[in-house]
Amino acid sequence: MTEIDKSPQERVIVRRPDDRDVEALVRLCARSFRTSVRWQGARWHAARWWAQTIASSACESWLCDEGGSVAAACVLVIDEQGWASERKARCGPLVDYLTVLACRPNLILSEVMDRAAFLCSRFVCSRCLQPIERRAGRRGWLELIAVDPDRRGRGLARQLLAHCRCRCLALDREWIELLVARRNAPARALYESFGFSCVDLEAVRLKYSLRLDREAAPGG
Ligand SMILES: CC(C)(COP(=O)(O)OP(=O)(O)OC[C@H]1O[C@@H](n2cnc3c(N)ncnc32)[C@H](O)[C@@H]1OP(=O)(O)O)[C@@H](O)C(=O)NCCC(=O)NCCS
Repeated sequence: MTEIDKSPQERVIVRRPDDRDVEALVRLCARSFRTSVRWQGARWHAARWWAQTIASSACESWLCDEGGSVAAACVLVIDEQGWASERKARCGPLVDYLTVLACRPNLILSEVMDRAAFLCSRFVCSRCLQPIERRAGRRGWLELIAVDPDRRGRGLARQLLAHCRCRCLALDREWIELLVARRNAPARALYESFGFSCVDLEAVRLKYSLRLDREAAPGG
């Protein structure tokens, strides 16, 4: 089969990123998460986030390499306690807010409103986080998935999810879980088409869960 006959998935290599990919990953996230304070703030801070994440032993970062360029990426957390303590040790969200205030002040209002809605829903209904904690250690937690806007709709996100499912099975996990913004219709459609079901509701985010079945492999 010649290169031109191959489907996009066949031309793509799923691999772990290294430090040389940091700039491309920052660009990918800035293009993918247009209203996120973390990704629209200072580049150096986003680069630091990726460098620390790549080096972390609490998670596995994966990217789709298409002809030498980064087309998509995701972060699969495999040790949630380790990840939580690493995040505490990193520069907190204050840096994100300060940098975004300087670069994109218009984002602050929507972010603050989202956070306020999130905190209210936690206050009113604390059940949201209980199942997450119960399952920690037995699941893979998907923290981020992003596909370059010019390369969407070609199955790259599905390919990354299939890869994460294989990794979780290899690590003996029973679920893959994640949170997604309620208004993020493409992402919700992606997870639902892959076999995830929505298991918990918050005001602004939904929790999706995929029970891993060694026999069946839906969506892959
Ligand atoms: C969500 C996202 C990752 C999807 O990436 P993608 O590579 O385009 O997705 P795929 O091509 O693998 O699509 C797989 C399935 O997802 C669903 N889907 C993807 N994009 C969709 C869209 N814009 N509208 C509706 N359904 C969509 C479809 O069911 C699709 O299956 P189909 O092509 O057989 O219909 C991408 O749009 C993205 O990076 N968005 C910005 C970042 C983001 O919001 N990430 C999610 C964080 S929780």
